[in-house]
Amino acid sequence: MDDDRAALAAHLAARFGDAPPLPKELPGAVTLARMANHRTIRAYADRPVGGDLLLVLAAVALSAPTKSDLQQADIVLVADAGQRAALAALLPDNPWAAKAPAFAVFCGNNRRQRRVHALRGHEFVNDHLDAFFNAAVDAAIVLSAFITAAEAAGLTTTPISAIRNHAQAVSEVLALPKHVFPVAGLSIGWPAHGGSISPRLPLTATVHLDRHDDAGLDTHIAEYDARRNLTRPYRERRRDDVFGAENPYSWSEDKARQYAQPERAAWGAYVRDRGFKLD
Ligand SMILES: Cc1cc2nc3c(=O)[nH]c(=O)nc-3n(C[C@H](O)[C@H](O)[C@H](O)COP(=O)(O)O)c2cc1C
Repeated sequence: MDDDRAALAAHLAARFGDAPPLPKELPGAVTLARMANHRTIRAYADRPVGGDLLLVLAAVALSAPTKSDLQQADIVLVADAGQRAALAALLPDNPWAAKAPAFAVFCGNNRRQRRVHALRGHEFVNDHLDAFFNAAVDAAIVLSAFITAAEAAGLTTTPISAIRNHAQAVSEVLALPKHVFPVAGLSIGWPAHGGSISPRLPLTATVHLDRHDDAGLDTHIAEYDARRNLTRPYRERRRDDVFGAENPYSWSEDKARQYAQPERAAWGAYVRDRGFKLD
């Protein structure tokens, strides 16, 4: 128990710089420590992940809460080598998608709800942005729960939103019908190394008391850039050819560079083509 508390405090300190003080009584410290120690590791041991284990993880993930009990998340477990290769070919910048022993795609599904309306003879009169948003949120919650479950079982995972760069092609490979859309892929495997904790913005920037307050945001970003460069500096710089070789590189520089270039501009058109109205 003391070990779990110490581990939790150490993981939070590595993540946030300042760790919040732990209360004297802390039930579940072992689980909290494991969650705080989350790491995305993109290299896998040469060991298969059993289909039976994947199914248990899917069941645990789908035990997560779901908006209005609508159950609008689906998981496509991709086992067939040809299917895996077809998806991997769309993801050249994410080689871990091809190398991972197991792969899944998490989808939002508003199709079932529409079918329920047809079955029960009640008109679906909420055909607006919320229909898409609710299914996307459910899928994201299930994705998160799957990641936590997989890590509890000793696996590591990498979510892959890059599949949405090719949403139409992914939909064709997976035979996704109208009103079903991919939210993220997930590479799954046994970690080849221990990885490291990826620092986050300080809690002062992301946890608010009673009212939202980002008055200190610029300072928080500058401090985070500096802390991150000390503990986990970027190994690769994004597009120096376009943006120049500014030094030191930082999280804020990387994120600003990322969204200074067009990304996924066709997503809205794809979602509309899936049958959603986004007004
Ligand atoms: C919705 C979502 C999409 C992501 N997409 C990708 C991706 O396309 N490729 C990738 O390598 N990592 C992806 N990631 C992983 C993040 O880069 C990673 O979580 C982040 O760098 C923080 O590192 P950590 O998970 O180790 O704390 C994604 C994560 C989430 C939650």
